[in-house]
Amino acid sequence: MNLEELEKLKAESIAAAQGATDAAAIEQVRIRYLGRNGLIPAVMKQLRDVPAVERPAFGKAANAWRTAFEATLRERTDALAGAGEAAGPAFDFTLPGRWPQAGSIHPLSQVVSEVARIFARIGFTVADGPDIENRFNNFTALNTAPHHPSMDQSDTLWLDDDLLLRTQTSPVQIRAMMARKPPVRIICPGRTYRRDTMDVTHSANFHQIEGLYVDTKPVSLADLKATLAYFAREMMGEGVGVRFRPHFFPFTEPSVEVDFTCHVCGGKGCRVCKQSGWIEVAGAGMVDPRVYRHVGYDPEKVWGFAFGFGVERIAMIKFGVPDIRYFYENDLRFLEQFA
Ligand code: DAH
Repeated sequence: MNLEELEKLKAESIAAAQGATDAAAIEQVRIRYLGRNGLIPAVMKQLRDVPAVERPAFGKAANAWRTAFEATLRERTDALAGAGEAAGPAFDFTLPGRWPQAGSIHPLSQVVSEVARIFARIGFTVADGPDIENRFNNFTALNTAPHHPSMDQSDTLWLDDDLLLRTQTSPVQIRAMMARKPPVRIICPGRTYRRDTMDVTHSANFHQIEGLYVDTKPVSLADLKATLAYFAREMMGEGVGVRFRPHFFPFTEPSVEVDFTCHVCGGKGCRVCKQSGWIEVAGAGMVDPRVYRHVGYDPEKVWGFAFGFGVERIAMIKFGVPDIRYFYENDLRFLEQFA
């Protein structure tokens, strides 16, 4: 082969590339000239048979052929892509990718998981009960007097004479004790329902976490306080104090309301805690003997305490959320902050 023949082949290859009218044709031309058995590699191979004096010029020409041919292929490819674009929308490879937006765990679920983790470390397991309860589990077994106002149509969402949407997670205590013998050490997170009007701190459907510890050896109010103090520290951080205020619940005796030191002022007194330095977070107490009798436990042989937290209350304190309604509106601007 001589330079003249090479130039002729080059002209042919470029004409062939220019004549390709679609991607498949371009690929065919590319294979014919640049493929493993293509003409250009074959010519390159012949380079060693060319007389030494002619070799540099021949090599240069061969390389120039390759470059020119490749450039023509690129031009054709671009031209076809441009034509495609004019005909309809094309894919723009230069645009940055669009990532699917990842969701995040709802702040209320985060609180429930965290509480479960904290109590798991001291031997509590998670128990569950249905949202639709009967009168016995939600009221009677919890020692609620038949005339108690909480049973009223104006407070409780009744489905019929016996069934209702549970007003508290306390009925899960009853279910747990009826299902097993002491020791029982459970927490039960869940939805609760009341005929309440929505406002900054109220919802008709909110969440509670019930706790119950019953054993066959003496358990005291001091154990309850130590347990809740441990929980307060783990959940809210070191330095959070716990105080009990005497209260009344039908299912505990004595009963207390539980306060944590105010997360905003640290106990000095501010608007959030109404200058008291304390925030109410739970109800609690020693399980009433009448409750034990309802579930078939011998009140002389068991000891135990119970408590009930509001999940929203804890989440509002922990995350500094000023309005309970934010939890239910599914506004992404709110939810994204908990990712
Ligand atoms: N069930 C109560 C409520 O809804 C909260 C509560 C108070 C639960 C005292 C308890 C308890 O287990 O011992 O207000």
